[in-house]
Amino acid sequence: MSPRAGICIAALLILVAASGCGSSSESIITTPTPPVQSTADTTSLRTYASRRNVYVGSAIDRGFRYPGSDGVTFRSTMARQFNMLTAENDMKHDRIHPARDTYRFDPADSLVTFAEANGMRVRGHTLVFHNQLATWLTSGTWTKDEAKALLVDHITKVVAHYRGRIAEWDVVNEVIGDNGSLRSGFWLDRIGPEYIELAFRTARAADPTVGLYYNDYNIEGISAKSDSAYAFVRDLLARGVPITGVGFESHFQVGGVPTSIAANIARFAALGVKVHITELDIRMQLPSTSGLLATQAQNYRDVVLACVSGPACDTVVFWGFTDRESWIPSTFPGWGDALLFDSAYQPKPAFTSVQSSLK
Ligand code: XIL
Repeated sequence: MSPRAGICIAALLILVAASGCGSSSESIITTPTPPVQSTADTTSLRTYASRRNVYVGSAIDRGFRYPGSDGVTFRSTMARQFNMLTAENDMKHDRIHPARDTYRFDPADSLVTFAEANGMRVRGHTLVFHNQLATWLTSGTWTKDEAKALLVDHITKVVAHYRGRIAEWDVVNEVIGDNGSLRSGFWLDRIGPEYIELAFRTARAADPTVGLYYNDYNIEGISAKSDSAYAFVRDLLARGVPITGVGFESHFQVGGVPTSIAANIARFAALGVKVHITELDIRMQLPSTSGLLATQAQNYRDVVLACVSGPACDTVVFWGFTDRESWIPSTFPGWGDALLFDSAYQPKPAFTSVQSSLK
């Protein structure tokens, strides 16, 4: 007999004894009311994701360090729901390399340690970007050779520091402009187009096995910009540049998700690279309504399915998970509520929709 059956029989005996069998009291037969059963699926996103060998993640930044119970809830929700983590800002140039001869790894190290303690993969974000560069770099006057040496030093130190602990790096971030040509910025302006190849080769030399990605926005669906990104990646591959994949940032508006994401993933996959959804959020104009939240849920489902339904895309990372902590309200005034959990860490319709898309 199972222990559970034993407990039931013991409980029955107690009930019989308590009912006063054989006494003269009137017996009243009532229909027992069944306990109210919640139909909510409490299985975590990472449980479903790992059953199908995919990764579901979130970027984290300030919330990770919230004091008190807020921080506890933030970190425990993160660890419970996700099997991948991205540093939203802590690995960017200005944070990790604040002075020419100073690297400050501690904040990013704490994220990587948290990820390891909770069985999560880490996406490194990002080595080469036109934004969030330290002032010592952007305010200096550098020759082309000096700028190349600075790029090589930065990539080598950061990638070597995390060798074996980071699964993929966004090596170059947002390097194509909206017009389809290379975006002007510190590195292109000082070094010229060769900085991109130099970045990938330097990252590969510093870690022989880490995934190396080009990450950008407005390349998720088939469009003029994603045609340029496609030609860019094909050219890198033709020249033997070590690139593993492409990150589709995926900062969308409710009702504005491109319908050609799956087709676009397929054409990149046919080149021989992987695709990750790297920064997914779907913002709405505030105040939110139940209709907007329902459309948002459908939109999330469409993006997640576009990734996980094919073999080339095994990673979906959200740009945060709680509306308590998101870059949207400050970057797009009047917009918000872009994530899976509300500000009180309660799951939104979008959460349930992502959860069922991962089943
Ligand atoms: C954003 C962060 O979310 C903000 O906290 C920060 O102030 C600015 O950068 N594309 C990217 C990310 O690749 O690095 C950006 O992150 C969002 C857009």
